[in-house]
Amino acid sequence: MLNLKLSHNPLIQYRPIRTSDLEVLEKIHGDLFPIRYESEFFQNVVNGRDIVSWGAVDRNRPNEQSDELIGFVTARTVLAKDSDIEEFLRYDSSRSEQTLIYILTLGVADSYRNLGIASSLIREVIKYASNIPICRAVYLHVISYNNPAIYLYKKMSFQCVRRLSAFYFINGQHYDAYLFIYYVNGGRSPCSPFFQLEDLLERPLSKSAVANSWTTIFPRLSNSILRVQHALWMLSDFKLGNIGKPW
Ligand SMILES: CC(C)(COP(=O)(O)OP(=O)(O)OC[C@H]1O[C@@H](n2cnc3c(N)ncnc32)[C@H](O)[C@@H]1OP(=O)(O)O)[C@@H](O)C(=O)NCCC(=O)NCCS
Repeated sequence: MLNLKLSHNPLIQYRPIRTSDLEVLEKIHGDLFPIRYESEFFQNVVNGRDIVSWGAVDRNRPNEQSDELIGFVTARTVLAKDSDIEEFLRYDSSRSEQTLIYILTLGVADSYRNLGIASSLIREVIKYASNIPICRAVYLHVISYNNPAIYLYKKMSFQCVRRLSAFYFINGQHYDAYLFIYYVNGGRSPCSPFFQLEDLLERPLSKSAVANSWTTIFPRLSNSILRVQHALWMLSDFKLGNIGKPW
């Protein structure tokens, strides 16, 4: 794609973030985000301490800039049982080791926007998460007015599952956030139609239910059908892109 902000044709490559990126990484975070991150965060990123990250560089930049970061994504692994999104997972308590990948920061330098760089960085995260058999989802928060990022996550098939009131506190003001989830390795929402159907089919029938047959089974069936309908309604709401609505 033609980028009018660049005077040359970029050649974008992706590589791990390393210690020599520290200064540039701090600078781009400072330029792109209204939140200030502690220096410990950057140390953890460049040293790969509890954080995984990918960087984008433009090999066609002159000389020493050809290895300088122009985009990045950072993420960390969290245990599903310790996460704050447990209610959005069909969580099996007997599998307490299940994990999630939480995207901490994602950014692309202004002159390199709309070239698909953030999409590629997110794909790296999804690939990474998908290769961990016990990982069930990639998730993130985005401030409610960040339309380019919201558009991007929807385009990448993340599901917007909740609006969180006053999630961020920046410069003395509260801002809402959206919670986006991308399920991997069979992870899914408890209110997905698939879960509802599976729940209906899997739930064992008690002795009395068998004895009382239809009188007991019918209310349960109709209740489950209602839940499936509700799940389908939610799904169509998200697909229609009613993201700006407070719910
Ligand atoms: C959000 C951000 C990472 C996107 O990076 P990017 O490399 O430009 O993203 P991509 O090129 O992969 O995709 C951008 C898409 O958003 C679209 N887009 C850009 N601005 C938009 C806007 N204001 N409204 C709607 N869509 C927009 C582009 O057209 C493109 O879609 P397309 O591929 O269908 O044409 C970048 O804008 C950024 O760094 N922003 C500042 C930091 C930030 O907000 N990070 C996210 C925090 S959650």
